[in-house]
Amino acid sequence: MKIDVGLKDIANLCKRRGFIFQSSEIYGGIGSTWDYGPLGVELKKNVKDRWWQAMVYDRDDVEGLDAAILMNPETWKASGHVASFADMMVDCRECKKRFRIDNLEGTKCPECGGELTEPKSFNLMFKTQVGSVEGQAQDVYLRPETAQGIFVNFENIINTSRRKLPFGVAQIGKAFRNEITTGNFTFRSREFEQMELEFFVKPGEDEKWYDYWVGERFNWYTAMGIRKDKLRLREHDREELAHYAKKCHDIEYEFPMGWSELEGIANRKDFDLKQHMKISGRDLQYFDSSTDERYVPYVIEPSGGVDRAVLAFLIDAYRKELVNERERVYLSLDRRLAPIKVAVLPLLKKMPGIVEMAHKIREGLGGSYRVVYDDTAAIGRLYRRQDEIGTPFCVTVDVESLDDHKVTVRERDTMSQDRVEVSKLKEFITDKLGF
Ligand code: GAP
Repeated sequence: MKIDVGLKDIANLCKRRGFIFQSSEIYGGIGSTWDYGPLGVELKKNVKDRWWQAMVYDRDDVEGLDAAILMNPETWKASGHVASFADMMVDCRECKKRFRIDNLEGTKCPECGGELTEPKSFNLMFKTQVGSVEGQAQDVYLRPETAQGIFVNFENIINTSRRKLPFGVAQIGKAFRNEITTGNFTFRSREFEQMELEFFVKPGEDEKWYDYWVGERFNWYTAMGIRKDKLRLREHDREELAHYAKKCHDIEYEFPMGWSELEGIANRKDFDLKQHMKISGRDLQYFDSSTDERYVPYVIEPSGGVDRAVLAFLIDAYRKELVNERERVYLSLDRRLAPIKVAVLPLLKKMPGIVEMAHKIREGLGGSYRVVYDDTAAIGRLYRRQDEIGTPFCVTVDVESLDDHKVTVRERDTMSQDRVEVSKLKEFITDKLGF
């Protein structure tokens, strides 16, 4: 049974089980930054690996890149972020709180009813300094998107990979924004990760590729287990379009706080490459040897947030049901995303034979995916723990296992149990995992 889950339920589970913690919690945390714990780091890695698989390995027209977070600040003048990556803000003269004007309903402070200041533009980029000599340090920014690292490397990648259009460059990495309106757990963080593809195409072919990528990206989320009725596409209207975009669709997920953006697919035209040509003075045109033409490619950009994807996968997988009048919570995560694939559990941890056999089984199964041994509670509690973190299979070693060399394999969602010969266990589980 699927139930409506609140962000609080998810945040509690994440904290209790070790998926996500508040950053530097022992000092009271710091606003809207998060640490991924032992299970969160596995889930996040699986999401990124699956994205990379779909965007790079499953095709032959995309290269990868890992560009630096700190970039020459001219980059951000060229991209338009220095001039226009800003929100209009007002401050309350009484309680000193700051608000985005597009989120305000009246003319008074929503918290205390105080007077508000005139609106001021507030740039979302974090500024820091490079260099250690007083007075000579250079102001730089923490990148607010990974995309620009791809545009400034366009020439390097074309020259070294010898790619012909159409082709793309994929990158996963951290981005930073000094967000004013935060909250909603990890949904809007100040430090987050993006998974971005910049797909370079011949002008005139951009609309065809735009439609293609909107479809591909929507289907990726459903293929990874998100229910179709919880996803929708929403096209940006003229006022909402970013300064660089000709067209943009958001893939939205129905989060507990309402439909919200998971990923945006934009037609960035030739905006970025032309801007970098202007500011850097480099010729970033593409030479099309099939037609003897020189032109600046158009760019289709599917840009997703890793943290938002992780949050959506957790929410979508959350299940609660009554089993023998007791509540059971489990995460019905896709097997490819589940942090731990198999837990090996001894029925009696006081019987050395069982414990030894369980350890041996764990060793035999491990290697290709995450397999854990756990004997820290009675079997009922161990099952509940694994259910709640989304482990697809539990393997239980009992007294009979010592004689018949068989173990019980319990499946997470159905709780169905199979008795399987130890010699055939790896094959059985690999087959069920399906990868
Ligand atoms: N290069 C285009 C770009 O950055 P964006 O719509 O501003 O576009 C793309 O961001 C994606 O990055 C969003 O769809 C979202 O998933 C993620 N994202 C943006 N800001 C975020 C934040 N403050 N916290 C978490 N994820 C964020």
